[in-house]
Amino acid sequence: HEEFTKVKNIATIELGRYEIETWYFSPFPPEYNDSLKLYFCEFCLNFMKRKEQLQRHMRKCDLKHPPGDEIYRSGTLSMFEVDGKKNKVYGQNLCYLAKLFLDHKTLYYDVDLFLFYVLCECDDRGCHMVGYFSKEKHSEESYNLACILTLPPYQRKGYGKFLIAFSAYELSKKEGKVGTPERPLSDLGLLSYRGYWTRVLLDILKKHKGNISIKELSDMTAIKAEDILTTLQSLELIQYRKGQHVICADPKVLDRHLKAAGRGGLDVDVSKLIWTPYK
Ligand code: COA
Ligand code: NA
Repeated sequence: HEEFTKVKNIATIELGRYEIETWYFSPFPPEYNDSLKLYFCEFCLNFMKRKEQLQRHMRKCDLKHPPGDEIYRSGTLSMFEVDGKKNKVYGQNLCYLAKLFLDHKTLYYDVDLFLFYVLCECDDRGCHMVGYFSKEKHSEESYNLACILTLPPYQRKGYGKFLIAFSAYELSKKEGKVGTPERPLSDLGLLSYRGYWTRVLLDILKKHKGNISIKELSDMTAIKAEDILTTLQSLELIQYRKGQHVICADPKVLDRHLKAAGRGGLDVDVSKLIWTPYK
């Protein structure tokens, strides 16, 4: 992560028990731009220039988890749904924080239009943010995810795939809609999605007997047909015969691809979801 599009202002942040090096520029309000380090309250995500300010803040702040509704709990993992309209400052703080790790996304100041799904690991001190994804309340393009982030100390542990599975497909399936992430995806975003799509699709193809169409796969998984096609094409599992796409599903080939697709990530336990679609 050596290339910067704009000069990186904040070099490190403190968040909960972590000190984290940032990756990219984030447009904090001008009064913060002379700081190399910012101190975040890990619960309300307010940020401060000095450690003493944070310490004073922590004595007063009574949040112990993200604002909003807990919509999923399984073991020590919890997911909170935060409405950007009801929790505007939190939503903005989250965007400032996230932009430090996102290269090309524009920051949404208009947080009113978004829901934020914040994943936490909980212990007796509170619920500690691991990552999040955001989602437009009403997407005309059927995007089921706008931004996704796993905070660096938690990366490569399967949380990204968990967030993707949660967003993309558990929520879309419940809403009865096919969905896709907003573009452009970062390299890491694309790798994570490719891994997720590959695993979901190949698991079905392995179990399925007889022919299956992309449309059927899309109905079963809530994955958009284009994403299914590009994923299967990248694995060279699509042939074009008599004007039609045909999926070739030799079990040995499927197994090889599944192995290469990496670990499955943390599973979403659908029975732990306490959620009704946003109206
Ligand atoms: N190098 C190579 N492959 C990587 C990788 C890295 N640094 N990070 C993730 N991957 C790939 C791997 O295939 C990985 O699966 P594996 O660990 O089984 O091999 C897969 O992506 C997902 O890993 P997972 O642990 O579930 O994801 P994560 O918690 O690390 O989160 C992101 C993935 C994309 C959310 C995270 O990298 C991130 O927040 N990046 C910064 C923000 C961003 O780019 N978001 C996407 C914008 S569209
Ligand atoms: Na992983």
